[in-house]
Amino acid sequence: MSLGLGSDTPQLRTPQPGSGISTPSQKFADIVRDVMRHHKHEKESEAHQIYRQVPGHQPKGLPQLVDPEEETVPGIEHPGSTGVIYCSDRAMANGFSYTSSHEWSNLGQGAPEVGPIPGAPERPNTIQMPLDSLEYAPTTGVKVLREAVAKLYNHTYRQGKQSQYTYENVCIVPGGRSGLSRVAAVIGDVYTSYQIPDYTAYDQVLSAFRRLVPVPTALDPKNKYRLDIEQTKRDIRTQGLQVILASNPRNPTGQVIRGNDLKELVALGREGTTVVLDEFYSWYIYPDRAEDYGKSISSAKYVNDVDKDSVVIIDGLTKNWRLPGWRVCWVVGPKNLITALSQSGSFLDGGANHPMQLAAVPLLDPAYVAIEKVALQRHFKKKRDHILARLHELHLDVEIPPTSTFYIWLNLDKLPPPLNNGLTFFEELLKEKTIVIPGIFFDINPAHRRNLFNSPCHNFVRLSFGPPLDDLDRGVDAIANVLKKARKSGMQAFGHSYKKSIEGPIEPAHV
Ligand SMILES: Cc1ncc(COP(=O)(O)O)c(C=O)c1O
Repeated sequence: MSLGLGSDTPQLRTPQPGSGISTPSQKFADIVRDVMRHHKHEKESEAHQIYRQVPGHQPKGLPQLVDPEEETVPGIEHPGSTGVIYCSDRAMANGFSYTSSHEWSNLGQGAPEVGPIPGAPERPNTIQMPLDSLEYAPTTGVKVLREAVAKLYNHTYRQGKQSQYTYENVCIVPGGRSGLSRVAAVIGDVYTSYQIPDYTAYDQVLSAFRRLVPVPTALDPKNKYRLDIEQTKRDIRTQGLQVILASNPRNPTGQVIRGNDLKELVALGREGTTVVLDEFYSWYIYPDRAEDYGKSISSAKYVNDVDKDSVVIIDGLTKNWRLPGWRVCWVVGPKNLITALSQSGSFLDGGANHPMQLAAVPLLDPAYVAIEKVALQRHFKKKRDHILARLHELHLDVEIPPTSTFYIWLNLDKLPPPLNNGLTFFEELLKEKTIVIPGIFFDINPAHRRNLFNSPCHNFVRLSFGPPLDDLDRGVDAIANVLKKARKSGMQAFGHSYKKSIEGPIEPAHV
C-alpha cells in the first residue's frame, strides 16, 4: 500500500494496546480502522467543522447567521469570507500576526515578491503629486494612462493589424477585483459560464451580482484542466451561455489556454458570446527555449476588430509588474463596454487613485516592460523548478506541473487520511507556521455543497511560489516535518486539536 510518504516509508504506526508489537494482519486492520475513522464526510472532520462555523459558510438554503441565538442585523446576509479572509483568520488563531509574519512561511500568498530581482529595472520609490492629481480622476481613468495601456497592447500583440486599441478601449480600475466587479455589475440577466477550479474571488463576485446566472463546468484533471472549446461551443448552443469568464493563465492550476485554443475562444466573441479573460498572469509563462523569454500570452493577439469582438481583458500592475499595493489595473475591450464600466465604477468604487495612475505611465513603456518580463520569467522559473524538485524529493510529485502563474496545484490524495484532504493539511501546516490554501476555495461557491468531501478540489492545496526563495524553502521544510511526523507516529497526531478562531476584526493577509 503506497502511502505517498516515500519509498522508505515505514507502515503507518498505530500504537497497539498491550504489547506494542503488531502482526502484519493486525497492522492492516489498524490501517483500515484508521482510514474508516478518518472520515468520509465533512461532519467527522474538525477542520471542516471549523470552516462551516464561519458565517456565510453554511450550506446554502440555511439561514447564514453569526449565532442563531443572537439578533442579526436586519436585512444583512454574510456573503461568505473569501479564501483570503478565512486562511488569515485561521493563521491568526495559530499565532500569525503582522509582527510575527517573518517567522511564518506564506505559501498561500497570492502575491509576487515585490523587492528587487536579478535583471529587473529599479522601481520608483517616490511618487509625484501635482495639484491636479489631488482632484478626482475620471472613473475610466486618466487619459495618459489609458493611452499608455492601449499602446502597450498594440505594441505587444497587435503589430501589423488594422484594428488598434485606443484610450477609448481602456478603463483604469482600482485593482483586479474592482475590474471584475465592474464587469459583473454590467452583465445582464444571462447565463454566465465559469470553470472549477478557478480564482477564489469569482465565488463572491458571481454571487454578489444577482442578475447574472452562474453556470459551472468542472475542468478535468485527466485533460490537464484544459478548457474544452468544442464542449464550450456545445454548451453555448444547448444552454444559451452568453458570457464566459476564466482566468488565463489560470489560478490555481497554472495551466494556460494558448495558440489555437485561445484563437478559437476569442472567435466566440464574434459569434454572440462575451469572453471575459482575467489575464493577471499573462507574463508568468515559463518557456523551454531561450529565444522565447520575454513572450507573454493575451487574447488581444487574436481579436480582429477591437470594437466588434466581444472580448474583455482584465489585467494590471498587481502581478505582472509585481506592484499589488499600487491598485492600478485596467479592463480592455470594445468602446461600448468601457462606457458601461464607467457607469458601474461611478457607484462601485469611484475610480483608481489619481497620483498612482500618473506614476504608472512610465512603467507601461514597452522598453521597460521587455526588461521586467524577461527578468521575471527567469527568476520565477527558477523558483518553480526548485520547489517542484523539493516536492519530488518528498515524494509529493506534482501531477500537472504549472506552465504558467506562480501556483502549484498539489494533489494530496496519495497521502493517508486525514492528511489527504486540503483543509486538514492546511490546519496541520498552520501548526508548523506555514500557510497554504486549501483547494476547496477554488471550487467556486464551495459552501453550496452538502458534503465538502465531494468537492473536486477536496484533495488539493495551492502552493504559491510568489514569495522569495528562502520563505518558500521554509514552507517546504514544514511540509517535510508534517510527513516526518506521519512516518514516525502514525496518523493519530492529525485531524484534531485545532485552535479556535480568534474573535474580533480580521486583517486579511493576501492570498
Ligand atoms: C486571476 C486573478 N485575478 C485577479 C486578481 C486580483 O487582483 P487585485 O489584487 O488587483 O484585485 C488575482 C489575485 O489573486 C488573481 O489571481
